[in-house]
Amino acid sequence: MGRVLVTRRLPDGGLEPLAGHGHEIVGPNDDDTPYAADELHAYARTCDAIVSLLTDRIDADVLRAGADGGRLRVVANVAVGYDNIDVRAASEYGITVCNTPGVLDDTTADTAFLLILAASRLATTAETDLRTGAWKGWAVTQYLGRDVHGATLGIVGYGRIGRAVARRATGFGMRVVHHARRPTSEPGYVADLDELLAEADIVSLHTPGGADTHHLIDARRLALMKPTAVLVNTARGTVVDELALAEALHAGALFAVGLDVYEREPVIEPRLLSAPRTVLLPHIGSASQATRTRMATMATSAVATVLSGGTPPNVVTPG
Ligand code: GLV
Repeated sequence: MGRVLVTRRLPDGGLEPLAGHGHEIVGPNDDDTPYAADELHAYARTCDAIVSLLTDRIDADVLRAGADGGRLRVVANVAVGYDNIDVRAASEYGITVCNTPGVLDDTTADTAFLLILAASRLATTAETDLRTGAWKGWAVTQYLGRDVHGATLGIVGYGRIGRAVARRATGFGMRVVHHARRPTSEPGYVADLDELLAEADIVSLHTPGGADTHHLIDARRLALMKPTAVLVNTARGTVVDELALAEALHAGALFAVGLDVYEREPVIEPRLLSAPRTVLLPHIGSASQATRTRMATMATSAVATVLSGGTPPNVVTPG
């Protein structure tokens, strides 16, 4: 039996794996807003487990509060990414960290493809014109996008989600190349990221977030891309220098972008909001009913396993 903090509302059925074990569930607050740092500290001191979301900053202070004098044993993030958790500190304090790998690959790859298609074909620009009355009728020269079929797709980060995007791209008649930190020894591997960026017609990002990939796509690398290229990011906002990207769009140095993630969510860089040819989604990468439910039950199952003395399959270790 344990006391489990669930920081945010979960999809229906998400708490089921914890039911019947006599655990006490605390949280979320009534309006489902993220807890402030001091509230997380206070809960960490009195809980055995935290089911966290990527809107929670589970930093070394929170983990220390849970470990020193507390009884915190596990933090399970309802996300595959875990850049919101200080995994190294957790490991030092003997606190298990879990994520939700595998269950969201196809849904997130679908979102990447949605952005690839929408950005390449200027769907948002065209729809906005229609809704605002700016569309005055069909013309052969309007809303001329870039073809996805026949284009070279450069995938940056070749884990499960990157590979799921590659499978879709093949069906769309694209040529696919990929870059990863470690050679994949698979066809289409490009060791030099700069080379891939210069070659691709469409670039889709699938790396983890965190310090290692912070501003991986910066002003210099954006300048390597073709002025006709499309950039899509469903990974983490911090992978791209958002201001540099906005300036590249304003300058016409890129054709279009499709973004699902941002550097300072939910704050969006104003220069990006005013930039042309942007398809901007509010971090809905894994947001299908079925996938979000699977993610929640995977996280709460991991908590139930740890609290009953077992080791769940989805444990994260410091990289
Ligand atoms: C979503 O962004 C996730 O990491 O699962």
